[in-house]
Amino acid sequence: MKIAPSILSADFANLQRDVQLVENAGADLLHVDIMDGHFVPNLSFGPGIVSALRPITNLPLDVHLMVSDPEFWIPLFAQAGADTLLVHVEATPHIMRAIQQMHAHGVKAGVVLNPGTPLSALEELLPMLDQVLIMTVNPGFGGQQFLPAMADKVARLAKAREALGLHFAIEVDGGINAKTGKIVLDAGADIAVAGSYVYNGDPATQLATLQALR
Ligand code: DX5
Ligand code: ZN
Repeated sequence: MKIAPSILSADFANLQRDVQLVENAGADLLHVDIMDGHFVPNLSFGPGIVSALRPITNLPLDVHLMVSDPEFWIPLFAQAGADTLLVHVEATPHIMRAIQQMHAHGVKAGVVLNPGTPLSALEELLPMLDQVLIMTVNPGFGGQQFLPAMADKVARLAKAREALGLHFAIEVDGGINAKTGKIVLDAGADIAVAGSYVYNGDPATQLATLQALR
């Protein structure tokens, strides 16, 4: 399982240092949480942060768009240097168009499901996708509790992927620590995002406990 530290819990006044700490400790991806104060009740970063990060790290930038009207933002974040864009199915009535748009802009296409959104929302989309992100908390804030019922959702998605012969990556986000990390790994997750667990402590030590799971 790959580990994607979320910089939402980093020290924003020392962002470069905090990115390099996890890169040097062997992180696989860098997760960047974009919040617009509308789709979720919080504000975080814009495309300027992604373009500032691009030259200071070799880690792939995994950009989670918790925004309304994602079609407006996709070109801007692709141009800023995102490697993967992750769009919520709840954020647009035209999710398939958003996926086509991500591919047209040369980035990997991911979709995200809130905890209350059933897997059936993905049924027509799965063959087009590079990544599926299953939220394991309700999005908007770091430091929330993992929702145990989401483990079964991950397991059902992994089973569907196998039955369909598809190869998209399954990612989880929210409340991941050494204990819940083991649960999602066993359920079939390929990528685990971790914010507060990595940054509320020594990032290299914390990351090592997640890397030890795989
Ligand atoms: C939540 C964000 C997460 C957040 C995870 O809305 O999408 O990526 O940073 O934080 P933790 O790992 O603290 O739950
Ligand atoms: Zn996220």
